[in-house]
Amino acid sequence: MKLFLDTADVAEIRTAVRWGVIDGVTTNPTLYAKVGKTSYDELLVEICGITSGPVSAEVIADDADGMVAEGRHFARLAPNIVVKIPMCEPGLEAISRLAEEGIRTNCTLIFTANQGLLAAKAGASFLSPFVGRLDDVNEDGMMVIRELSDIVNLHDLDAEVITASVRHPRHVTDAALAGAHIATLPFKVLQQMVHHPLTDRGIAQFKADWAKVQAELAEAKKG
Ligand code: G3P
Repeated sequence: MKLFLDTADVAEIRTAVRWGVIDGVTTNPTLYAKVGKTSYDELLVEICGITSGPVSAEVIADDADGMVAEGRHFARLAPNIVVKIPMCEPGLEAISRLAEEGIRTNCTLIFTANQGLLAAKAGASFLSPFVGRLDDVNEDGMMVIRELSDIVNLHDLDAEVITASVRHPRHVTDAALAGAHIATLPFKVLQQMVHHPLTDRGIAQFKADWAKVQAELAEAKKG
C-alpha cells in the first residue's frame, strides 16, 4: 500500500517526506489555488525535487488536443510527473494519446468502477475514484474502490487504484483492506493517522515518571 500526499503545500510535503511515509504527491487546481503564490510549473518542479515518487499535475483544457498539449508540457518539467486528466470523452482520448507517447496519466474524478475500467483501457497508469464525495451524496465510496481494485487485479490491468477524496483515517484503513494500491491523503488526515489519545497520554506518562525518578535520585544524592 502506497501513500501519496494530496496537497500543493511544499512545507507539508517536506514534513511528510521526512517521516519516510510518502510515496508520491497529487495536486489539482483547487489545492494549487490554496497556495498559489508561484506559478503552477514552478511549484511542480519544486515538489518533484522533494519526492522522486509520482507527482500528479492536472490539466485545465477541455478538449483532447489541449489536454495532450498541457500533458506534454507537464511531462517535460520532471521525469516523475504524472498528467492528471478528468474522466470525460476527450479525457479518454488524451489518456490514450499520451500513453502512446509513454507519458503516464492519472484519471481523476472517477465515481464508478466502469469509469475506472474505461480509463485503464485507454491506458491510464493511475485511476482515482473520489470516496469522500461519493459518501457526501449518500453513496458507498469504498464500494467503488473494492470493485475497481478487484477488476484491476482479476484482469491483470496495468493500472493502480488511488483512493482519493479521503476525509478521515478510517477511509485509509478501509481502502487498504479493499485492495487499493494507493491512498492520497490531505496532510491533516496523515497527522490524524499518527495520533491516538492513548499513545499521546502514554508518552506524557513515561516522561512524567522519568522526571519523577530523576528528581528522587537527585534528592537522595543530596541527603
Ligand atoms: O484527491 C482529490 C481530492 O483533492 C478531492 O478531495 O475532499 O475536495 O473531495 P475533496
